[in-house]
Amino acid sequence: MMKTSMTAPTPKPPKILLIGPGELGGTVLELLARQDGLGPIVVGGRDPGRGEARCNLARIGAMAQGHAPDIRFLKLNLRDVAATAEALRRESPDILFTAATLQAWWLTDLLPEQERAWLGRARFGVWLPIHLPLTLNLMQAVRAAQFKGIVLTAPFPDVVNCVLGRLDLAPTCGVGNLDEIVPKVRHLAAERLRAPLAEMRVVLVAHHALEPAVFAALALPAGDIPPYFLRVYRGAEDVTADVRADELLLSPYPLPPGPAWSFLTAGSTVRLIRALSAGDEALLHAPGPLGLPGGYPILAGRGAIRLAPIEGLSQAGAVALNERSQMFDGIERIEADGTVVFRGESVEILRQAFGYDCQRLRPDEAAARATELMARFKDYASRLGVRLPER
Ligand SMILES: NC(=O)c1ccc[n+]([C@@H]2O[C@H](COP(=O)([O-])OP(=O)(O)OC[C@H]3O[C@@H](n4cnc5c(N)ncnc54)[C@H](OP(=O)(O)O)[C@@H]3O)[C@@H](O)[C@H]2O)c1
Repeated sequence: MMKTSMTAPTPKPPKILLIGPGELGGTVLELLARQDGLGPIVVGGRDPGRGEARCNLARIGAMAQGHAPDIRFLKLNLRDVAATAEALRRESPDILFTAATLQAWWLTDLLPEQERAWLGRARFGVWLPIHLPLTLNLMQAVRAAQFKGIVLTAPFPDVVNCVLGRLDLAPTCGVGNLDEIVPKVRHLAAERLRAPLAEMRVVLVAHHALEPAVFAALALPAGDIPPYFLRVYRGAEDVTADVRADELLLSPYPLPPGPAWSFLTAGSTVRLIRALSAGDEALLHAPGPLGLPGGYPILAGRGAIRLAPIEGLSQAGAVALNERSQMFDGIERIEADGTVVFRGESVEILRQAFGYDCQRLRPDEAAARATELMARFKDYASRLGVRLPER
């Protein structure tokens, strides 16, 4: 039938390729399976036994809830760039989402309190070798396949996507991180003003480095809080001062530790995927958009994202702020060729803890460095009497 209306056509439901159905990827799969209006979901992973079982659970769990998702498993190993490129050509998804990484981020939580706290002082950046290699391989496959769709990434996008940007391999953007902070502030601001949540809007520029200050309920000295830019609006009115936004940002908001967090990140991921599939743009937040360091407000819709203009802050100012902030994640700088220089204090903590000594990380060395880091960490944990979960 011929269309007669002048409204923009609704985009066709996107086909999604989700790689790495572990804790986070598996949770994203469960939530996507329960969304109507999406296309087929192909789940890429190394192990057909585990992967098929996850697909089966998501399919019948969603069916039990009244949905009818189209989900299937695809054997895929990101270590093999050529085979991944071939899979991208064959599957030709609209949206590619990766949560594939070499080791889950929360394993340090399993250490005894004293060692956990000490390693925590090194900050998250030193674990970059574990989160970079598979996304690097994926983006090499994306280039080889001349894949033009959306690529969303979960592994440490504030830094990984910036490194990839330096190599001209930037994914579209990341998920989570500052977008996990925004709903906390929005909720508390609505409560403080006794205003409906729907009237409240938050604009945030922040790096992953800010999350411990926001969620760990530590009363950190002011000098230990990374710089950020925060505004809160009620409708069109700036109420940042009225709600005492900085106080809200840093006020206690206890969350369960470890993998349960996946529900928060998965919420951010699904909302972004829905926005990208919609006809109108939505104002959201994402880390590592277009290869930039840290996180920014973005406009997402019609199969693309762009940076949202920020009242009171230029784009260059936002990037500079995130570059200052990444120091609080243990990262001194990211050089023009993608080499990451870590802060001396962070390097020293890992060197003393288990003899891992890495001041500079070149992207092409990340996979070998990851193997060494994981082996040394596993040995350290076992000396402390902690057995890390095997996959
Ligand atoms: N941006 C955020 O806000 C946010 C929040 C939470 C987590 N994260 C990040 O998300 C990532 C995943 O975390 P997680 O807790 O879900 O970890 P996880 O449970 O260990 O899952 C990792 C996944 O990667 C897969 N994988 C490993 N090697 C692979 C390969 N060569 N090819 C394809 N897949 C491979 C694993 O599959 P197998 O079953 O084959 O081993 C598994 O499905 C981490 O980088 C974490 O830091 C980000």
